Amino acid sequence: MNKTKLITAAHKAKKNSYSPYSKFRVGAALLTSSGKIITGCNIENSSYSLTICAERTALFKAVSEGHKRFKAIVIASDSSSFIPPCGACRQVLSDLAGNIDVFLSNNKHEVLQLKMEDFLPMPFNDSMLKNK
Ligand code: THU
Repeated sequence: MNKTKLITAAHKAKKNSYSPYSKFRVGAALLTSSGKIITGCNIENSSYSLTICAERTALFKAVSEGHKRFKAIVIASDSSSFIPPCGACRQVLSDLAGNIDVFLSNNKHEVLQLKMEDFLPMPFNDSMLKNK
């Protein structure tokens, strides 16, 4: 995996962030198991609650283009802190991408590496729907 390329892609995706309300830009770069990088940014809305995070933008783009298996995601912001995925993104990422590598990247392009399970232990997923 070319980690540097994935980190650069997430920071580049951040530039398309539509965040006039929070002024908090986030970019995400998702690596598919076939080695493709699919990016996303946060897109806010004047009704606020219809905002979508960068992580889900990237994942939904990827799924809608036929990708089913993933290796890693980078979440990049302009903050000096490492910004973790929100609760909704944790569920959606865990469900659709599984226990992938998660890299959080701050404004200095420094990286904190974790696994999806670190953010969402004991996830609810499709296997439970089959074991009623
Ligand atoms: N946001 C993301 O895109 N990803 C995260 O991991 C945290 C939050 C966005 C949503 C909203 O547009 C802005 O950041 C402030 O919450």
